[in-house]
Amino acid sequence: MKPLFKGITLSLASLTLGAFMLTAVPPAQAKNQSHLPVSEQKIVNVAHRGASGYAPEHTLLSYQLGKEMKADYIELDLQMTKDGHLVSFHDTNVKRTGSVDKLVKDMTLEELKQLDVGTWFNNTYPEYANPSYVGLQVQTLEEIIEEFGLNTHYYIETKAQNAGNTTVEGMEEKLVQVLSHYKLIGPNARAGHVLLQSFSPASLKKLHALNPTLPLVQLGVVQPGQLAEVQQYAIGVGPNFKQIDANYVKQVRDMGLMIHPYTVNEKEDMRRLLEWGVNGMFTNYPDRLNEVIKEFKSKK
Ligand code: G3P
Ligand code: CA
Repeated sequence: MKPLFKGITLSLASLTLGAFMLTAVPPAQAKNQSHLPVSEQKIVNVAHRGASGYAPEHTLLSYQLGKEMKADYIELDLQMTKDGHLVSFHDTNVKRTGSVDKLVKDMTLEELKQLDVGTWFNNTYPEYANPSYVGLQVQTLEEIIEEFGLNTHYYIETKAQNAGNTTVEGMEEKLVQVLSHYKLIGPNARAGHVLLQSFSPASLKKLHALNPTLPLVQLGVVQPGQLAEVQQYAIGVGPNFKQIDANYVKQVRDMGLMIHPYTVNEKEDMRRLLEWGVNGMFTNYPDRLNEVIKEFKSKK
């Protein structure tokens, strides 16, 4: 563990942000305010991989449940298939949720569609098991947008292949192409329907270069001295909630950046983060978070 700043340590996963020191940042460009999230005052409830505490992550049923629980965003992790499709899938290898030991990037969409990504959940979480989860399929980004439409808010992560930095070649271009096609981004897009996130500064900088108005969130614990650099391409940060404190939240907010910690599943942790002034958070239990937000607002 490497000291980050007083009282906080940095995990190996977050060390990927060391890349900030090595990569040149393009000049800051004016951000189009119309592409900022719904309201910076709103505390956003992000259904992490859908309502993945109750249903198999990254399936239509998990996203549907997230919407029913009134999450503001459904969260998608993107991987790219061998034949260039963007699919919502967390791991680089499909073994954990698809029971086959292969990398997504080495599989075609047709091969991925053969996987059952629901049964593992019933086996792992028998208390929430449901026969309807058996046989659920991997979804492409397009299929998810077609299913949930343009009135849904999507919080999309470009996943890197290694400890942080390299996404599959072409992922960012394809993402921008798909979102533009559905008018979720671009001159006629409605504000706040998409937020894009990554642990990889390189991926976010590539997205920023493709379209400087995209609302981007830098995942990981960004050291306070590097917040200004991140601010040149991102509107917020998404740290692991276990690696921050009240002072860190204040420093981020004082810079005018949003802060959406992940992945917060216990009410006690949700309450503490809200007291510290976060703008929202990722959770596997959007129903719980809405209860806590309601309670928090009633005390104000
Ligand atoms: O994107 C926020 C959070 O989901 C990051 O962690 O590993 O769940 O994608 P991970
Ligand atoms: Ca994620």
